[in-house]
Amino acid sequence: MSYARITGTGGYLPAKALTNAELEHLVDTTDAWITERTGIKKRHIAAPDETCCDLAERAARAALQMANRHPTDVDLIVLATTTPNHVFPSTACLLQQRLGVHGCAAFDIQAVCTGFIYALGVAERFVRTGGAKCALVVGAETLSRILNWEDRGTCVLFGDGAGAVVLEASDRPGILSTHLHADGRFAELLNVPYGVSSGYERLLAGEAFIQMKGNEVFKMAVNTLGRIVDETLEHNQIDQADIDWLIPHQANIRIIQATARKLKMPMERVVVTVEDHGNTSAASIPLALDVAVRDGRIREGDMVMMEAFGGGFTWGSALLRY
Ligand code: UT7
Repeated sequence: MSYARITGTGGYLPAKALTNAELEHLVDTTDAWITERTGIKKRHIAAPDETCCDLAERAARAALQMANRHPTDVDLIVLATTTPNHVFPSTACLLQQRLGVHGCAAFDIQAVCTGFIYALGVAERFVRTGGAKCALVVGAETLSRILNWEDRGTCVLFGDGAGAVVLEASDRPGILSTHLHADGRFAELLNVPYGVSSGYERLLAGEAFIQMKGNEVFKMAVNTLGRIVDETLEHNQIDQADIDWLIPHQANIRIIQATARKLKMPMERVVVTVEDHGNTSAASIPLALDVAVRDGRIREGDMVMMEAFGGGFTWGSALLRY
């Protein structure tokens, strides 16, 4: 029996940190409102010439270094993003070229904030069934490019960044299960309504921004994440108490606290980066994982649950032994 194990993690945040105090000068908001309603204090913003692939490359190289792997060891690249460099080729292909790897499968996954969980679920199946031995799984976003900097309801929430893991075939677990879901009926609540084959003129006019009915998304997120946690525990026949670390998608501290309560987990066992990173969509979970691995909280053998919810709606979870 072969498993897929994470053997290295990496993360990268652009140099520019945008604080709530700075946002007070851009839109009608306050540090107090943002802090109380979201838990966010700052977010990082990519430089004008810094691309999604640039961020992904930094995170990927850090993960490979931790795993003691050379880029030429990689035989699969799965990259989750909502903000790719180009319409095509995929950012995964651009990353492959940057790393000097040639020939292996490389593709993007678009599941918005659940993107990393989807990418991990797909890569894990490749590795477990012998289709790859050393996969690079990346979540990378330049969300600042699709924010309306005049909309205080969204521009204070999101940030840029990238996180990556190396996933290798192993005879010990590993990823124990992944659970991926979607329901397109809720597309209207959270979206960028213009793209290449619909509303292209608005896209060209620079009007393709994130739109969100925040309050409705909030309620759905809390309920759905509660259900996915139950599904994951039941599938693995384990108890809440068996989980050492919860790594939630970092959208809002109040959503994170609600999920932790549901799992009866003290906040000390929850990895929280939303204060410093904001919501980095597909990058948020691998970035948080990298932070907690590098500061020594998550250690080999720990049981880790990851969960996410995002546009689509999409939602999902992963349970793993680190
Ligand atoms: O990652 C994908 C999933 N995304 C999420 O999970 C995000 C889910 N939603 C949320 O996190 C929250 O709904 C928000 C943080 C977006 C908003 O918090 P809320 O507690 O749901 O506030 P609200 O939307 O109900 O707005 C309350 C008030 C409104 O004013 P009125 O109508 O009560 O006068 C808003 O206009 O807060 C106002 N408001 C703001 N005030 C200051 C909205 N944005 C801001 C702002 N600064 N930035």
